[in-house]
Amino acid sequence: MGVTNSATRFGLATRALHWLMAAGIIAMLGFGTYLGRIEPSLSTIWMYGAHKSVGLVLLGLAVARVGWHLASPPPHPLGGVPAWQTALARATHRGLYLLIVAVPLSGWIGSAASGIDVVLFDRWTLPRIAPLSEAWTDGAFLVHGVLTKLLAALVVLHIAGALKRRDGTLRRMLRGAA
Ligand code: HEM
Repeated sequence: MGVTNSATRFGLATRALHWLMAAGIIAMLGFGTYLGRIEPSLSTIWMYGAHKSVGLVLLGLAVARVGWHLASPPPHPLGGVPAWQTALARATHRGLYLLIVAVPLSGWIGSAASGIDVVLFDRWTLPRIAPLSEAWTDGAFLVHGVLTKLLAALVVLHIAGALKRRDGTLRRMLRGAA
């Protein structure tokens, strides 16, 4: 079973990253939406820490994923679908790549600007990547909120596209080959 991608197969590394990140991002979209609706308090503060830590792990995986995409390019898309569907799928993939980096990064910037240390799993304090500023905090969280909605829309579009195609595209991401 190959780890790298080939012209016709998704390798193990790409498939593992894809499904790990799919589960993580969908869970975080729900978790984040919940956090956006509650008031921070002593009893809920751990949830914000958990959201930040898991989000930062996803940021690390997203950077790894982009690097891996360049190092081991994915197989060619399966043919036999109208050109507009191929173009839409490509645009969706590009948008997803952009957002899986921009969403956690904007959360990190907003958190850093608020002055509260971002501590990975209560253990490692990460660098403050933004100036201490209310405007930066509000701006970054506004961007975080808007981009998460866009990410959710692209995830829905991506899943709908995968389910609509009955040509082995989904099977290829599950098992490697069509
Ligand atoms: C893939 C990763 C992430 C996803 C999918 C995600 C998703 C979300 C969502 C959907 C919300 C609610 C937004 C709203 O309704 O306005 C949210 C809020 C929040 N996110 Fe993230 N997030 C991610 C990563 C991060 C990271 C890395 C940090 C910080 C280091 C972070 C910090 C926060 C905070 C503090 C809030 C609450 C803001 C408030 O109280 O309104 N997020 N997130």
